[in-house]
Amino acid sequence: MNDPNIQELLTELQAGDVPRHVAVIMDGNGRWARERGLPRWEGHRAGMGAVREVVKGAAEARVDHLTLYAFSKENWGRPAREVNALMSLLEEYIAKERRNLVDNEIRVSVFGETERLPGSAQRAIRHLEEATAEGRRLWVHLAISYGSRSELVAASRVLAQRCKQGTLSPEQISEEELAAALYTAAWPDPDLLVRTSGELRISNFLLWQLAYAELYVTPVLWPDFGKRDLFEALLEYRRRERRFGRVEA
Ligand code: FPP
Repeated sequence: MNDPNIQELLTELQAGDVPRHVAVIMDGNGRWARERGLPRWEGHRAGMGAVREVVKGAAEARVDHLTLYAFSKENWGRPAREVNALMSLLEEYIAKERRNLVDNEIRVSVFGETERLPGSAQRAIRHLEEATAEGRRLWVHLAISYGSRSELVAASRVLAQRCKQGTLSPEQISEEELAAALYTAAWPDPDLLVRTSGELRISNFLLWQLAYAELYVTPVLWPDFGKRDLFEALLEYRRRERRFGRVEA
């Protein structure tokens, strides 16, 4: 880290509270490429560099959980060439970064309808999850082939099945029971949601889990988003007053 300003931001962050869990909607790869007259996949490739920076930055800032929306269920509707490029990038990212993630004690898990991914991508993911399972410094969760409404429907089915089997009664269905049936059962809810490229949308991402998250939207396009941008978002979060619907005494 050679930029003294980034170091100052980090020092400031390390002197106080940071959100335990940061979730990110990485948006704007396509626009970044278009602005440069490049094909869209070049934007995704550049976005991979931003993933690397932000994972490093989150670990340095002592965030515990970082969730990245890498591929939504809706993204299956993009042209096959773009979908294939994204799948190749995922495999390339895993092959390139695995050693580095293990060395830095970073654990990676993937959630979503991953059974829809090509077999080679599924194998690469399993290998990455196994290789990084002991990492305790930062836990990165990659949402791939993920949609929040489908996740809620699947969780509802699990609860309905349990009712049918008699292991749960409708009266026992609670926020805790529902949360426990989501992919995210083992992690705290995000405290902060960052969205790049200025769009003011949630885009079917963690609808349940983001109930009380602070929202931070920046016009920066994802490939241009770096540690400095992350640290600024974390400092902005610190300035927010979180009341969870209550008023201060
Ligand atoms: C949104 O930009 C980004 C995506 C749909 C994919 C995100 C993927 C990466 C950052 C690279 C791969 C990451 C990993 C972890 C391997 P967009 O295409 O919607 O941009 P636009 O809104 O400008 O068109």
